[in-house]
Amino acid sequence: MPSMAGEIVQAVALLRAGELVAFPTETVYGLGADAGNPAALAKIFAAKGRPADHPLIVHLPSTAHLSRWARNIPDIAFALANAFWPGPLTLILERTSIVPDALTGGQDTVGLRVPNHPVALALLDAFGSGIAAPSANRYGRISPTSASHVRDELGDGVSLVLDGGACAVGIESTILDLSRGLPALLRPGAIRVEQIERVCGESPGLIGSPEPFSAPRVSGSHAAHYAPATPLRMVATERLRDTLDAQRQAGRRCAVLTYSQPGLIESHHLLRMMSAEPAGYAHDLYAAMRDLDASGAELIVVEAPPGDEGWQAVVDRLRRAAVGSGTALDDDRP
Ligand code: TXA
Ligand code: MG
Repeated sequence: MPSMAGEIVQAVALLRAGELVAFPTETVYGLGADAGNPAALAKIFAAKGRPADHPLIVHLPSTAHLSRWARNIPDIAFALANAFWPGPLTLILERTSIVPDALTGGQDTVGLRVPNHPVALALLDAFGSGIAAPSANRYGRISPTSASHVRDELGDGVSLVLDGGACAVGIESTILDLSRGLPALLRPGAIRVEQIERVCGESPGLIGSPEPFSAPRVSGSHAAHYAPATPLRMVATERLRDTLDAQRQAGRRCAVLTYSQPGLIESHHLLRMMSAEPAGYAHDLYAAMRDLDASGAELIVVEAPPGDEGWQAVVDRLRRAAVGSGTALDDDRP
């Protein structure tokens, strides 16, 4: 087995040669390429099957690199970087001329973050520049939170997969647009709006989210995203029993994701117990969806999580999974 230090040297050589390297971050695994090399960026879009107009996030070794990639940087960007980097917050800022068009889909802005994972930071330090990386999944599918998920998704489409174990956060970074006046939440994540507001001094609600996270500029914001192949339906806790009974009577086996009702699920169905805390739930969510997707169940039934703010990012991903899997949003009916 090669050592991680040796693999980082190999990864840097591959990146310099314009090849792809998958690497762990604290959120999900990224499919990385030299952010300054348009030919390398094209390989990301090809490997993922991702439309070329969907911009990529650039991962930076530290906040000191910010001004190479972004200009007209507002003070709150530095305040947020100080507060949350390295960490799961992506800032959308005006881009500088070194940012290739291929990276931004021709937009005048760029997404930047410093990830909080020792392997990602070692790679970025050794590379010494920005690494563009979307989540290392096929377009529209569930983001990978382990090295084996990446291999399942991309196979030979990636030269090297650095294995940093399971991702601590488990869902993608919060995306905040700082490029046009008031900050706007483009994608909820582990860094919550109230934490951002505490740093920005903006009053709640000022951080807008035009249409629930559906700005067309964000590919992850398309309603159908993060989708398993098996239909997935979110069901309110009170209706879980009726829904499952009806499915059993119809002879359908369900895979059930629940955080509060393990006793309800009889052996006809497959049970996956989730954390009753949003952070723990997010950590396990994508691995659980992958397992249940592969279980042979005809329907994935998800107990709808609580409505409070701390659950916003998890609920966002579950909704997209429901839409992406082809079932109606929040369809309660059995
Ligand atoms: O946690 C994460 O953010 C992971 C890890 C690997 O860092 N990356 C990730 O990348 O989720 P991706 O490409 O799967 O999602 C990035 C999202 C996309 O929805 C993209 O459209 C949006 O960020 N984005 C990137 N640049 C943007 C820009 N200039 N303006 C608006 N949205 C942007
Ligand atoms: Mg993605």
